Amino acid sequence: MGVLAMSTKSNILKILEQNRGQSVSGESLAQELYISRNAIWKAINELRQDGYVIKAVTNKGYVFEAENDIISAEGIKTYIENKHKLSDIYVYSSLTSTNTEAKRLACNGAKDKTVIISNEQTAGRGRMGRSFFSPCDAGIYMSVILRPALNVIDSGLVTTAASVAVCRAITKLYNHLSPKIKWVNDILLDGKKVCGILTEAGMDFESGTVEYVIVGIGINISTNNFPDALKPIATTLKGSEVIPRNRITAKILHELFSITDNLNVYNFMDEYKQYSAVLGKDIEIIHGDMRSFGKAIDINENGGLVARLHNGTIVTLTSGEISIRGDFYAQH
Ligand code: BTN
Repeated sequence: MGVLAMSTKSNILKILEQNRGQSVSGESLAQELYISRNAIWKAINELRQDGYVIKAVTNKGYVFEAENDIISAEGIKTYIENKHKLSDIYVYSSLTSTNTEAKRLACNGAKDKTVIISNEQTAGRGRMGRSFFSPCDAGIYMSVILRPALNVIDSGLVTTAASVAVCRAITKLYNHLSPKIKWVNDILLDGKKVCGILTEAGMDFESGTVEYVIVGIGINISTNNFPDALKPIATTLKGSEVIPRNRITAKILHELFSITDNLNVYNFMDEYKQYSAVLGKDIEIIHGDMRSFGKAIDINENGGLVARLHNGTIVTLTSGEISIRGDFYAQH
């Protein structure tokens, strides 16, 4: 019973997602899925119990309300553009960290393009050992397992590619927004962070090649309870047009795979520079306890930040942290 019920529910969810905001008659569902009206009714009620708002309209059938915003594999697949074949999508209501789960799956042989998403993270991880605030229902917290044919030295390209993918997705979905990338991979809106990206790689030590890369992307969609320390520096997509998280997720995956399917720096580095919030700006470079000052003058083809220090020396940063001087974001 369990297996049948699960697939019935999943099939109905798929059809309802494809007809968001419109009515679908019980009869057409029953015909399409070769099951009884009663089985449809039962599955609809289960979906309601899961939190979906599905109205029953006399003589019309069921209406899956446009405002439904529960993340599901069925929903994401509805919006994914065919070109990029997905592998598995695992959706959880709560995880410590999708990157940690992705790493576990990658070590157990998960395929290229496997996606792990959670509605909340209880121990979301950021760069430099920091945490990533990941409250339930309020964001997209996802990790993508990629298996690119890359030398370890080039693995940073995936990070750069992911930042461009998120910026492209936001730009295409929200006409009026202009996301910027703060090196290396924070995405800003009006100078405040809306998205953080944590990429982690596993390598084959003998060949020096990448075994897998995990691209962890966290986006604040409607977070309204940032801790005090984050309030001045974090922002959300809320206030912009309301777009279901399934659709945003699908767009990001589409843009990510369209870059990583043919990972070549020349395909996206110019775009990375156009989105850059730091090029031409005075910056502070933070190396542990050391601070130096200079101007960001270029991003090299490995994603390294080229800076001219105040004493004239040119340096290339491959990791670490910078802040933009005079920038609101930088002062916090
Ligand atoms: C940062 O801002 O320093 C990077 C934040 C990355 C957060 C994402 S959310 C999904 C994935 N799982 C994690 O634990 N972290 C990344």
